[in-house]
Amino acid sequence: MERELALEFVRVTEAAALAAGRLMGRGDKNGADQLAVDAMRSMLDTVNIQGTVVIGEGELDEAPMLYIGEHIGAGTGDPVDIAVDPLEGTNLVAKGSPGAIAVMAVAPRGRLLHAPDMYMEKIVTGPAGLGCIDLDAPVAENLKRLARSSNKDVTDLTVVVLDRDRHRALIEQIRDAGARIKLITDGDVSPAVAACVSDSGVDMLIGLGGAPEGVIAAAAVKCLGGEMKARLKPENEQQTERMRSMGITEPTRVLSLDDLVEGDDVIYVATGITDGDLLKGVRYGSLYSTTHSVVMRSLTGTVRYVTADHHNDLKKTNGKRV
Ligand code: FBP
Repeated sequence: MERELALEFVRVTEAAALAAGRLMGRGDKNGADQLAVDAMRSMLDTVNIQGTVVIGEGELDEAPMLYIGEHIGAGTGDPVDIAVDPLEGTNLVAKGSPGAIAVMAVAPRGRLLHAPDMYMEKIVTGPAGLGCIDLDAPVAENLKRLARSSNKDVTDLTVVVLDRDRHRALIEQIRDAGARIKLITDGDVSPAVAACVSDSGVDMLIGLGGAPEGVIAAAAVKCLGGEMKARLKPENEQQTERMRSMGITEPTRVLSLDDLVEGDDVIYVATGITDGDLLKGVRYGSLYSTTHSVVMRSLTGTVRYVTADHHNDLKKTNGKRV
């Protein structure tokens, strides 16, 4: 993919963040999501791509915009697949809690796993975990291996886990192993990315979360040279059938990073909506509103943090290019 696209996509997540951030703390997660979707959708149409949404807001009958299979972009340029989450962490924005982002991943056509909307088991580490993480090993063993390859003690490691009843046993096992834990209420993409960044304070993300979010996170993990193993977790026959219809014939197979994002050409871009581990949230000023984004390209391994001041009067934030 053309490298110029990377900065074009920053404009897209900036637009979504600027729109959704307005509803921070207002208790309106659907309203915030809608603002993010509208802004992302219209900004995407200004980008010179032939894009197809492979991970989005749902099926056509559930979502009028950014639905799976929707064609987006200006219609010329590279044919690409796009995984979007205009507002990752709807509850976080609704409550004004940290960690909400607008995020997307883009790869040449056919390179992103078309993950259905279901759960996925995930384990993510930075480059130190390459070759030593095993989704089927006890978490204590994975922590021991990661500590050894990071030249740390297990007690130095910080593991992020979604605070859910389904993770009670997992959390106990991590505590017994002696690692530190950061329980999060929502939003497991940001901590997956943070696990791959050396001074982020996060060493591992583990647990059951959304499969679409897993694929989006995998794009960043690939750009950052981290490690990720995953497995889809269909909960009923309908979900299993949906997996099959999307070409996933071995439901219990452990998915490698390359199964999630194939090849070496992927772009990950995110803009902070509320403050998080890696990105600041949107600041609205009298003249300018400021966004903080990160954009990565796996082809070059470049990671750019972009702080942008958006003139409130000269630039519309509803996604229209001016
Ligand atoms: P939203 O769709 O409300 O933004 O939530 C996203 C998320 O928190 C993901 O980050 C996570 O993978 C998943 O939901 C967890 O799902 P659940 O809330 O069902 O445990």
